[in-house]
Amino acid sequence: MKKRFNVLVTRRLHRSALEMLKKKCNVSLHIGKIPIPKKNLINKIKNMDGLICHPYDTIDKEVISNAKNLQVISTFSVGFDHIDVNFAKSQGIKIGYTPEVLTNATAELAIGLILDVLRRISEGDRIIRNKKWNKIFGAYDYTGTEVLGKTIGIIGMGRIGKEVAKKANGLGMNVIYHNRKPVSKNIEKMLKIKYVSENALYKKSDIISLHVSYNKDTHHLMNSKIFKKMKKTSFLINTSRGKIVNEKQLVTALKTKEIQGAGMDVYESEPIKKDSLLLKLENVVLAPHIGSSTKETRQKMSYITARNLILGLEEEKLLYSV
Ligand code: DGY
Repeated sequence: MKKRFNVLVTRRLHRSALEMLKKKCNVSLHIGKIPIPKKNLINKIKNMDGLICHPYDTIDKEVISNAKNLQVISTFSVGFDHIDVNFAKSQGIKIGYTPEVLTNATAELAIGLILDVLRRISEGDRIIRNKKWNKIFGAYDYTGTEVLGKTIGIIGMGRIGKEVAKKANGLGMNVIYHNRKPVSKNIEKMLKIKYVSENALYKKSDIISLHVSYNKDTHHLMNSKIFKKMKKTSFLINTSRGKIVNEKQLVTALKTKEIQGAGMDVYESEPIKKDSLLLKLENVVLAPHIGSSTKETRQKMSYITARNLILGLEEEKLLYSV
């Protein structure tokens, strides 16, 4: 008889994915407080062969060292900065993740944030709900900014960056980008994008959208020095990871009108701190880390996460591995 694997799932997956897992594994599903408290995680992971985790679970050396049987970590995310990848790999642990399926959803959200902050939709919603519509009745009392003809600077031309470029093209924007290396001339032509230096991107963009992963090189990539280089009329959009932006310095830049506005889906601390100064600013749109959160995408992510885990445990090639 085939061995049944013991797996820990730190948060509910789509029903069909859980059923798929249960066919081959003894599933221990964490319910209750999320993210799973570290003490519980360390305790529960001891005898597990596999782990399904989420970006809010910190899978560090301490957790991994405690899981002597662990063979596979499968994360329900494209980002894997919450996992000590080098250490896990040094222990022979495979790591699965879920790129591609969330590309469109995340790019759509970036475009949504752009339109929202430039056209001041959420701000207007607050004005209506606060019964202040009569205060902005004049023809010029409440004007936004059109995206048509504006220049968007995309930092990071991976899957999501490319999808944002396509959608921005469709809205009549000019697209410039910066990446570790330029993409091929063919792709540049197809996507109508132009490679520029980081400095040129900061200076020329009307909108800057971040699509890089978080690591020590991208920590606080956007900081007061950069905000000073940006146009006073420009907007910053972040759907990647919160710590890529120095939030305190962003607040200052927004308050002092060094830049005009921001659309954010990710924060240095999530959920956002109750006393975050971002909450007090009108010129920001705040989304609660929902880049991949659509019915269509989350179901696909669930499937891939479960499949990656099973394939890894059965010593097959993962659908997507880090
Ligand atoms: C990811 O997949 O990394 C997104 O941020 C969703 O959590």
